[in-house]
Amino acid sequence: MPAFSRILMIAVLVALGGGAAHADGDPDKGAKVFKKCMPCHRVGPGAAALVGPPLNGVVGAKAGEVPNYAFSDALKNSGLVFDEATLAKWLRNPRQLVPGNRMTFAGLTKDEDIADVIAYLKTFGPDGNPPK
Ligand code: HEC
Repeated sequence: MPAFSRILMIAVLVALGGGAAHADGDPDKGAKVFKKCMPCHRVGPGAAALVGPPLNGVVGAKAGEVPNYAFSDALKNSGLVFDEATLAKWLRNPRQLVPGNRMTFAGLTKDEDIADVIAYLKTFGPDGNPPK
């Protein structure tokens, strides 16, 4: 193989590897990040509402739709869908994304923590078990 192609191939592999590592968070690390959420949130089978709603199946869900939880009007009427990009914005600065919401959490500052905690949340389907 000509040297040029070889260099190109290595560059592509590095780019792909680095990109994937960044975009896909690590659920195990995310479990640690989630400790910051646990004063107010639970996930998993039978997770109850605390100060905040249980977060089973939240990735990809409409905001403010979990039953038996009294969401703020601000969040309920936000029209948001918590796809990964929106969830990332929410976790970085909930007050900026939805002014008047009741999640009194300053936000996560590291992109890596945000990606990891989203990867962790993705391991819980709506019933608290791994999604099929
Ligand atoms: C001090 C308590 C508190 C902490 C800490 C907290 N939250 Fe929340 N969270 C809330 C409350 C309260 C709401 C509901 C807000 C509303 O109704 O306006 C909420 C809402 C949410 C929602 C929207 C759920 C839905 O179904 O619409 C998500 C997602 C969420 N929190 C994720 C997190 C994550 C992830 C963390 C940790 C990085 C975290 N929260 C930390 C209190 C908290």
